[in-house]
Amino acid sequence: MSSTPLHLTVSAEAAAPQISRHIFGQFAEHLGRCVYEGIWVGENSSIPNVRGIRSDVVAALREIQVPNVRWPGGCFADAYHWRDGIGPRAQRPRMMNDTWGIPETNEFGSLEFIDFCEQVGCEPVICGNVGSGTVQEMRDWLEYLNAPVGRPLSDLRAAHGRPEPARVRYWGVGNESWGCGGNMRAEYYADEFRRYATYLGGYMKEPLHRIGCGPGVDDWHWTEVMMRECGAPRFHPEIMSGLTLHYYMNGGCPPEFWATRFDHQGWNHVMAHAWEIDRLVRRHAEIMDKYDAKKRIALIVDEWGSWYTAEPGSRPNELFQQQTVRDALVAALTLNCFIAHADRVRMANVAQMINVLHSVILTYGEKIVLTPSWHVFHLYRPHQNATRLAVTGDIPVSNFSDMPYPRVSVAASQAADQSITVTLAHTDPAEPLAISLAIPGLPGGVTATGRIITAPELTACNTPEQPNRVTARDWSSFSLLGHTLTTTLPPACVASVTFSSRK
Ligand code: AHR
Repeated sequence: MSSTPLHLTVSAEAAAPQISRHIFGQFAEHLGRCVYEGIWVGENSSIPNVRGIRSDVVAALREIQVPNVRWPGGCFADAYHWRDGIGPRAQRPRMMNDTWGIPETNEFGSLEFIDFCEQVGCEPVICGNVGSGTVQEMRDWLEYLNAPVGRPLSDLRAAHGRPEPARVRYWGVGNESWGCGGNMRAEYYADEFRRYATYLGGYMKEPLHRIGCGPGVDDWHWTEVMMRECGAPRFHPEIMSGLTLHYYMNGGCPPEFWATRFDHQGWNHVMAHAWEIDRLVRRHAEIMDKYDAKKRIALIVDEWGSWYTAEPGSRPNELFQQQTVRDALVAALTLNCFIAHADRVRMANVAQMINVLHSVILTYGEKIVLTPSWHVFHLYRPHQNATRLAVTGDIPVSNFSDMPYPRVSVAASQAADQSITVTLAHTDPAEPLAISLAIPGLPGGVTATGRIITAPELTACNTPEQPNRVTARDWSSFSLLGHTLTTTLPPACVASVTFSSRK
């Protein structure tokens, strides 16, 4: 261990952006056990529920202050026909979810989703069907959800028990239209987007956020075409307010890449591939800048997270995986990256919320387990809607297969109550790191409160039998002298310190 600490400074930025709380969003798809069992257990379940929606899950999501949930997919969105999921549940069609090869009862449909969002206290983000749908079908869905009573479809909604509009503000026009959502070319989709968006009327005072399908990973051409054809100011200013990006660390059902079996090489592989998000966001944002210097259009990373081989014993098409502190690092690195690009990245959704890929919650029948990433979202709550602060210093760079990533990634912000929060993601699996953190603007007499996520072993995970192996705990192994905090970060940890005035 080097005895010379790494010196970092946290200071106010000129024209600092607000960190949109929507970057801490979740994604729920009709995939595996995400919706059925994860959210929906039905009114007659022995699992405590409110109108069929499980209460333990709602409570855990409320605790991390989930700002929004994207639904119903994913690839499923471009195969979903909303009329299948409305009206009396007993009369809804039972069918196959051909996207993921599982039965679909349609018990969880539009109004159940809105009910779920209202129980969680978050905003709904609908992803509409372009791939196998029509413009008429999509605009009808919006009328059903958002129009005040007095139109055929809003009256139908009222007849289904919900007279008041759902007030959906975020609307995705297709999912991966370059892939499972229709295999389109960027040029073709751009025209489709404009056609669909034209008919997505606003039923509210404020305009609907129409979100265009953006690139997968490093498809710069897709971003270029979408910005040129739909993003330039000569178009109706409200036609596209967001463009998506999908990036999975190790994406796409990798063979033999296990969530809980790895060595230091596997650890470093994941750190480097997780930090790749920074290169992608930078480059896509540069392209967006060319057409939208005022940053009117948000980059919305509406699918991100780790993707491993499905957990042994689970069905491969359920994409169920466990999580370790390695994935807490993936989450922290990714969120720190979004904070660093907060001027452009204004919404994001981790994939996926429950029982699939990079989930914050796992359920085992009536039991619920909070994953290491749940603890990261919990730690990061003070960043929601706070003003970003600059973090400067000569951060050492690690390398894996020519892919650089920071030895420690740091984000800082100041909340409305003037408290300052710094979050640190320490990527080294073996060595501690001494740090001194100067915050020249810190008022006298503040207290520093720390939390840290570590694990007894790198491969440890939380299970129903041992739900708290990887968790956050109070952390006070630092000293605060004047404006400077000094500490030694243990290997492989995510830490946060909040500085607030004594009451
Ligand atoms: O999250 C799993 C799948 O990954 C989504 O359905 C799709 O959008 C992406 O390819």
